[in-house]
Amino acid sequence: MAMNRSSLRIVWIALAMSPWPMTAVAATPANSTSDASFNASTHVFRLDGGDVTYAFGVNTDGALESVYWGARLAPGDPLERPKAKGRAFEIDDTPEEYPGWGGGLLAEPAVKASFPDGNRDLVLQYVSHKINGATIQIVLRDIQRDLFVTLQYSMDADTGILARSAEIANKTNSPVLIEQAAAGEWNLPASSHYSLRYLSGRWGGETQLQSRAIEPGTTVLESRRGTTGHEFAPWFAVAQDTAVTEWDGQVWFGALAWSGSWRITIAQDPLQQVRIVGGFNPFDFEYALAPGQTLASPMFYGGVAQHGFSEVSQLESRFQLAHILPQAPQPRVRPVLYNSWEATTFHVTEQGQEQLADKAASIGVERFVMDDGWFSTRKDDHSGLGDWYPDPTKFPNGLKPLIDHIHGLGMDFGLWVEPEMVNENSDLYRKHPDWIIHFDGRPRTQARSQFVLNMALPEVRQYVLGFLDKLLAENDISFLKWDANRNFAEPGWPQVAPDQQKKLYVDYVEGYYGVLRELRARHPKVEIESCSGGGGRVDLGVMKLTDEVWTSDNTDPFDRLSIQDGFTYAYTPQVMMAWVTDSPNWYNRRSTSVTYRFLSAMQGSLGLGMDLNKWTPEDLETSKALIAEYKQIRSVVQQGMLYRLVSPREGSNFSSTESVAQDGNKAVVFAFLHSEQMQYPTPTVFPRGLRAGTIYAIRALAGSTVESTPESASGDFWMHHGVAFRLEGDYDAAAIELIAR
Ligand code: DGJ
Repeated sequence: MAMNRSSLRIVWIALAMSPWPMTAVAATPANSTSDASFNASTHVFRLDGGDVTYAFGVNTDGALESVYWGARLAPGDPLERPKAKGRAFEIDDTPEEYPGWGGGLLAEPAVKASFPDGNRDLVLQYVSHKINGATIQIVLRDIQRDLFVTLQYSMDADTGILARSAEIANKTNSPVLIEQAAAGEWNLPASSHYSLRYLSGRWGGETQLQSRAIEPGTTVLESRRGTTGHEFAPWFAVAQDTAVTEWDGQVWFGALAWSGSWRITIAQDPLQQVRIVGGFNPFDFEYALAPGQTLASPMFYGGVAQHGFSEVSQLESRFQLAHILPQAPQPRVRPVLYNSWEATTFHVTEQGQEQLADKAASIGVERFVMDDGWFSTRKDDHSGLGDWYPDPTKFPNGLKPLIDHIHGLGMDFGLWVEPEMVNENSDLYRKHPDWIIHFDGRPRTQARSQFVLNMALPEVRQYVLGFLDKLLAENDISFLKWDANRNFAEPGWPQVAPDQQKKLYVDYVEGYYGVLRELRARHPKVEIESCSGGGGRVDLGVMKLTDEVWTSDNTDPFDRLSIQDGFTYAYTPQVMMAWVTDSPNWYNRRSTSVTYRFLSAMQGSLGLGMDLNKWTPEDLETSKALIAEYKQIRSVVQQGMLYRLVSPREGSNFSSTESVAQDGNKAVVFAFLHSEQMQYPTPTVFPRGLRAGTIYAIRALAGSTVESTPESASGDFWMHHGVAFRLEGDYDAAAIELIAR
């Protein structure tokens, strides 16, 4: 992985002064070395890392062809030179690493280009390579023209997750139009037994796990919205066959690190080979490369697990903590936060926020976040976006008095912003109506009464960075919740020539990343949450620049079980923000107990979003006890190994998750009952991942009950005898800790 160790060390030292405990991410893989090599006689490149080997070679036609992706092989194992099969007109049977559209290719290309003379034929062949540690760089060139592609492969020593990307360079003397550009193609051997898992969703119903057999044809997962979107997560997992479970069987998985329009296609060809191609969404896409210019694809990360879907999640979580998050390789655990949105919506005031803060501090909250409504004329969602100064009627002396009050209570302060957006009713829009994404002379579609500022425009980036920088320089703010409540419409960029306008899809995202990057550099202590009308911008790209993500506006603790379940297939629980809110829940009017709500949210990064003024002293006491419990277990929940013991999906009446510390010394088990029927006992839960011979003491968390158990027993005992919770009635929950002696 290309990582700047020294800069990470500086961040680490700064964080050592933080008030929250930090946990090292200690991994214990079977193989923790990585290596890259080239065999000159077979023309095969090989990368090894974790328990994985990835190999590809230069075939006898000079094209780069996949050779192997799976469990780690012995060092001398034979990996033969791939023999070119040629491109027949009926089928393409060559599993290429990065095919250009040309030479009769019928399968999905990785790159498609148009040259000014009308030629659209692109056939890429190997030119040269470089190997540096566990990184391989391959240069490909068209058979005739100076269009080059540099592929990069980096293998992670711990998890065997491979990072892939491509950079397309126009070294001809004329412009070249890139019409499609992927990060890479993953190839799986022929089989008719594969099954695909992916995450679909919508606002209030994000990250729902879907499963389907892979059959002849193509499955398309995508966003055309300009941002990651709620509809699909840029993630896939392919199980070797339908018998693969949470614990057993081989699974290939991958995720794109891109927060703009993206596409992943999963295709089974007529020979039953499976190709997975992912990168920029080619829909409405064109990137004009002037002579000398390059276009870099997003990163595409892929891995292989031998032990089912739990291992997929564990590998991804370890990898994201160690290599993706801004505080990697040792991100500190997330603080318990309070957010004002559900309590006050737009009706924030200095006094009202202070009252909430007093209560939040008294039950153990560590960070107080003021949400929407604090600025300009923001009384509802019809005005104010774009004008980022405190509303003088709500905050007559600016934000300082509130921030001081919050600091006085021992919490740090966070603030909601929606920097890329503007209301029609705002000074910014009145002054710069041309700063939004639009087509000249065409209607401008509003969503939530707002437009999208064009982050590809330098003046917009400067404005956004300028106001955020000022806000952070003038106020002691530790955290920003960066929201984005709509997608692109009429994606025009009239300030540039028509043949440059479709660059918007790339340049917008690069602009957004650039502002985040610069802001973090100027304010290294500030943490950021990625929010987009709930979980509309969650991907490995934004996770490199933000510390946590908002999972969903749906805060109902029962619905959350399946949203969170799906989320953890692709992303680490560390970043999964989960709030405890009021009951009945605003989203669906469901009533649940305080304990149920807490235990549901305590499976991720805990937040509170209720109207604390309406809570009884008893409920506040319960909250205080459970927040204290959470602080004891959060490093295990956020950074441990997750086992989804019993799924909440498909109408399941009971569900359970377990998190085990990376060193195996502690485990936390959560159990949730939907509704008791006929007095059936609560299903016994069988924890996993404990050390067989180690003695673990059991402890029920505050408010939880387990049926009679010994006080302590071996890991084997707990894993095979199991734990019997006592859950009753509707929406009951309990949790235990197992602690190694
Ligand atoms: C959408 C977010 O998902 C909510 O949490 C809240 O911040 C609102 N926007 C505020 O407008």
